Amino acid sequence: MSAPPKTVLKATADEEQAIRAAVRNADPATLGPGRAIAKREHASSLLELLADPAVSDAIYDLPRPLNLETIAEWIEDCAAQQQRGEGLLFVTLDREGKAAGYSKITVWPDRSSAELAGALRADLQNSGAGGSGALHTFSWIFETLGVRLMCLTAAVDNIRSARLIDRGGFVRMGEREAVRPDGTTRRSIYWELTRDHWNELLARDRGT
Ligand SMILES: CC(C)(COP(=O)(O)OP(=O)(O)OC[C@H]1O[C@@H](n2cnc3c(N)ncnc32)[C@H](O)[C@@H]1OP(=O)(O)O)[C@@H](O)C(=O)NCCC(=O)NCCS
Repeated sequence: MSAPPKTVLKATADEEQAIRAAVRNADPATLGPGRAIAKREHASSLLELLADPAVSDAIYDLPRPLNLETIAEWIEDCAAQQQRGEGLLFVTLDREGKAAGYSKITVWPDRSSAELAGALRADLQNSGAGGSGALHTFSWIFETLGVRLMCLTAAVDNIRSARLIDRGGFVRMGEREAVRPDGTTRRSIYWELTRDHWNELLARDRGT
């Protein structure tokens, strides 16, 4: 289950409403090619993607057990979250229309905060695509959804995720016990990044 950030921000009423509207109206095309809001028709393709332990084992907040029914419920639940302005589930489709990856964004509009989880299909991993895609998604979340804070977790042995999160400028803030939907826990490294810090890093990279 996604847990909100350790740092507690208080959104103004206007800010909270703007974030909820941005989530409801999010356009997947602005996130990147092949992106779609996950729908019932993607359930079997998402199941095929997530059935591979190389894709799903590292992720704590997926439905378990993974089957067509639980994936369909997850898609429906995420659609309801989007209607409330509190979450988005994107699927990335390849040229054959199969799921090549997914991104789940959980949003706490009253706290101006969001969390990201996701994965790439095994044949696309280890080629730098995950790193560059994650950096682009961090930017998209700050700019398009308008939150001021992001948090992330990764299993303590998930070296690739830790590398890309550190490289994105996220600040390590200890560990956290991430709780899976079945109630079991996983020890995770915990990071936060503020929008102000992200913008400073972008300005530094541009040399401005
Ligand atoms: C995590 C994931 C999205 C990363 O995408 P990717 O395309 O495989 O990763 P990249 O090729 O961009 O590599 C990420 C970083 O890990 C580094 N890396 C890769 N393999 C490594 C290894 N065995 N040891 C140390 N570093 C390694 C890369 O060099 C890169 O760091 P750098 O940019 O500083 O050079 C992808 O591997 C994935 O979907 N994994 C399964 C699900 C998962 O773990 N999701 C994240 C949950 S928090």
